[in-house]
Amino acid sequence: MGERPQVRPEIPFLNRYIPGKPIEEVVRELGISHVVKLASNENPIGPSPKAVQAVQSALSRIHLYPDDGQFSLKKALSEFHQIDESHFIIGNGAVEIIRMIMEVFLEPGDEVIAAAPSFAIYKQDVRQMGGKLIEIPLDETFHYDLEKMKKEVSLKTKMVVLCSPNNPTGTIIRKKELEIFLQNCPPHVFVILDEAYSDFVEENDFPNGIQYVLKKFPMIALRTLSKVYGLAGIRVGYGIVSPETALYLNQVRVLFNVSSLAQTAAAAALTDQEHYQKTRELIWKEKFFLYSGFEKLKIRYISTQSNFILIYVGNDLECFQSLLREGVIVRPGSQLSMPGWMRITIGNHEDNLILLEALAKVLNQCKI
Ligand SMILES: Cc1ncc(COP(=O)(O)O)c(C=O)c1O
Repeated sequence: MGERPQVRPEIPFLNRYIPGKPIEEVVRELGISHVVKLASNENPIGPSPKAVQAVQSALSRIHLYPDDGQFSLKKALSEFHQIDESHFIIGNGAVEIIRMIMEVFLEPGDEVIAAAPSFAIYKQDVRQMGGKLIEIPLDETFHYDLEKMKKEVSLKTKMVVLCSPNNPTGTIIRKKELEIFLQNCPPHVFVILDEAYSDFVEENDFPNGIQYVLKKFPMIALRTLSKVYGLAGIRVGYGIVSPETALYLNQVRVLFNVSSLAQTAAAAALTDQEHYQKTRELIWKEKFFLYSGFEKLKIRYISTQSNFILIYVGNDLECFQSLLREGVIVRPGSQLSMPGWMRITIGNHEDNLILLEALAKVLNQCKI
């Protein structure tokens, strides 16, 4: 028998994140030719055409390494947000920035407070660094209980992670609540404010996390190009943080972490206001179309400020399998710490119609 590899003690116990099932996998496994994917909160109208064009013209230079200093993309971000370039850290998706933050801040035994349910990557990355995640349940309306979170903060707390709109519930933290929380949070606690879905929010009193970074609260505001800009496959996310913390994060950044094509695509997408607006308008319109479809089917749903909706089905794993056989991929809540529920990405009108038809067909198989 071979010797057990001397890996770090945390490694064998990590639960790898289960992403949405890829379309090709369903085609392969079930032999269905037309598959609709409403599982990973991707953009239903596709990537920004400006980004696609920019990538096409950059293809002939992929024999060269990317710009590790990310000069052009930082400049584009700086112009877009009207803040100095020194505030940005850019990652191979926002998930890479979450990883960098944990690497920079956490020592074994450190505590991190997050909500439950929330984006599962936080837990995995905290545990990978030997930290301990303390999960505070959402309240009965599926919103953050920031008072309870604040009460959990102790000298052992290194970090608090807030996700707004929260994945998988689509609920938001309002401006006043966030301000009170930040003002009362002790300065040794670093706050991650994950705003991956902020572009889909319709409510007025939604705070812009960047403002609080500029007011020098110890925090990072996370954004991604994967959602509203439709660049999930090319991988670009970024954080806005104090210049000092940006330098620390940069110390652990993998060399050439963002490909040349990704940097080019992101810089172009940021200038594509037409695609941005078109995406938001479609999501907002289709959100209400899905709400009325769910109401007709007597399905309970959580009102969302994002591009996905949680619905209650009963036996989510059974329902997930039945929908797969109908050619529709969604996310079973059992994979998102919300058993009984299913998370559905808001798609284009055609895909949403297919989803509602499939749901009507399989719903009675999902009852517990
Ligand atoms: C809450 C949240 N944050 C961050 C991300 C990561 O986005 P990306 O790594 O694609 O930039 C996701 C992706 O689904 C998410 O749901």
